[in-house]
Amino acid sequence: MSESIDRARTLLSDAGAVVILTGAGISAESGVPTFRGPAGLWKSFRPEDLATPEAFARDPRLVWEWYAWRRTLVAGCVPNAAHRALAEWALRRDRVTIVTQNVDGLHARAAREVAGGRDAGAALPVEVHGSLLRDRCSGCDARTAPVAVDATSVATLPRCTLCGSLLRPDVVWFGEMLDESVLAAADGAAATADVCLVVGTSALVHPAASLPLRTRAHGGMVIEVNPEETPLSRMAEVVIRGGAAEMIPMLVGRTA
Ligand code: APR
Repeated sequence: MSESIDRARTLLSDAGAVVILTGAGISAESGVPTFRGPAGLWKSFRPEDLATPEAFARDPRLVWEWYAWRRTLVAGCVPNAAHRALAEWALRRDRVTIVTQNVDGLHARAAREVAGGRDAGAALPVEVHGSLLRDRCSGCDARTAPVAVDATSVATLPRCTLCGSLLRPDVVWFGEMLDESVLAAADGAAATADVCLVVGTSALVHPAASLPLRTRAHGGMVIEVNPEETPLSRMAEVVIRGGAAEMIPMLVGRTA
């Protein structure tokens, strides 16, 4: 293992530009359930009932009940050593872009905590699947701060103060397009990176899972941190089989 760590560490510190792609696995050690792991959300819930525009049209009360539960769960979690180490690294050196599939807001929290009074901008993530910590109007698309949700009935669900339509969580559901400008930012970072560090994703959901391929297509290298094999493992220059909270500080920490 230490040989892979040393090699990955060298590749990362020698890289001119780095893109980091994270998934649910980076937040697992903060207590946020993954989607496809043994106790993953999709083991006990059906995405087609909860995470599609059709499901929201069919039963917005059920969808909101589930997202309100996830919001409460995430509110009780804190960034772990991996989130913090990446934030510190992104603030310490140039040309590091954190791209996340996660909607839990833990990367942004780590960036602000680590930055203290300084500008956290360089460590704020590109959230390609949106955020649980924001609402969006299902009618006029206005974004708002999250409101308290009473999912007792459709009549009690939160509504847009501008047009009166139902609010929804500002996350990207299956079958929906990603925000163009957000995807362009992620793609641009991947296409110009010398190294793509992939942390805690099963690499099954596109277009996010294609970002490491963009880096490779431009002659860059992929480093994977995941306790398990994924479709990206065979194309990675270095594979590190371990948990993010332990491995990431070893890769990008000051003292490793
Ligand atoms: N450290 C690193 N990786 C971990 C850890 C850990 N402590 N624990 C689990 N993992 C790995 C698992 O082995 C798995 O490969 O994290 C990955 C989590 O995969 P998924 O649950 O499929 O989550 P993710 O890849 O982020 O899902 C992508 O799918 O459901 C949609 O929109 C949702 O953004 C999500 C997307």
